[in-house]
Amino acid sequence: MSKSMRNKNIAIVLAAGKGSRMDTATPKQFMQIKGKPLMYYCLATFEKSEVIDEIILVTNESSIDYVREEIVKRFAFNKVSKVVSGGNERVYSVWEGLKAIQGEMGYVFIHDSARPLVTEDTIKRLAETVIKTKACVAAVQSKDTVKICDESNYIKETPIRETVWIIQTPQVFKLSTIYKAYESIINQNLQKVTDDAMVLEMTSQLPIKLVEATYENIKVTTPEDIEIAEAFMDNLSTFFSENS
Ligand code: CTP
Ligand code: MG
Repeated sequence: MSKSMRNKNIAIVLAAGKGSRMDTATPKQFMQIKGKPLMYYCLATFEKSEVIDEIILVTNESSIDYVREEIVKRFAFNKVSKVVSGGNERVYSVWEGLKAIQGEMGYVFIHDSARPLVTEDTIKRLAETVIKTKACVAAVQSKDTVKICDESNYIKETPIRETVWIIQTPQVFKLSTIYKAYESIINQNLQKVTDDAMVLEMTSQLPIKLVEATYENIKVTTPEDIEIAEAFMDNLSTFFSENS
């Protein structure tokens, strides 16, 4: 089989958000955490990963030059093959990433750069699973009971807790499968689409497997999450020393 026909594992790293809930002047992906920009951490993990071949980095149009110099070059992330401009919502940023790798054979690992603590073990188990299922997402069981409510915040129902999972990234798909799914809905109103699995749920019957990840794999969203992420980094000293 020629090299170009081999299945590749490509990560799309999303760093094109505004970080409005963080309430800082610069988008949170550039915020310093333990002396490095937030987006550095997952990139370092993908760069070192035994199963990831290539990284597509999606960022704000005005930050592309900065990202090429101050992130990709400075930290020698040699797997980053493209830095592309994102869209106004996460779903459009993902679509820009997918278009950048259209036609490649293999699997795509869509990941929020705001999740610095994704581990190689999770990435590997996702890589093994997606070969069998074509679609799988990182997740943890909800520790809390979850309620579904109506518009006035009255409880409508209570899902059985054992069936409730908190969905994270990476979300991993056969590239052609997720590309077709995105292509078929991208012109619709996508305001309510908050993850990639949803796009498949909307467009196909394909079962999507949950792969148990770690509770440390949080999304840094609001200011208190920074302290939590830094505390996890202190605890996971091997993680941090490997990445420094
Ligand atoms: N993201 C993106 N393009 C967008 C919106 C989000 O690439 N138009 C990325 C973010 O950079 C982040 C991930 O998607 O890594 C998850 O999004 P979220 O945590 O919501 O980040 P922001 O959209 O930046 O934050 P907020 O919603 O508070 O504005
Ligand atoms: Mg957002």
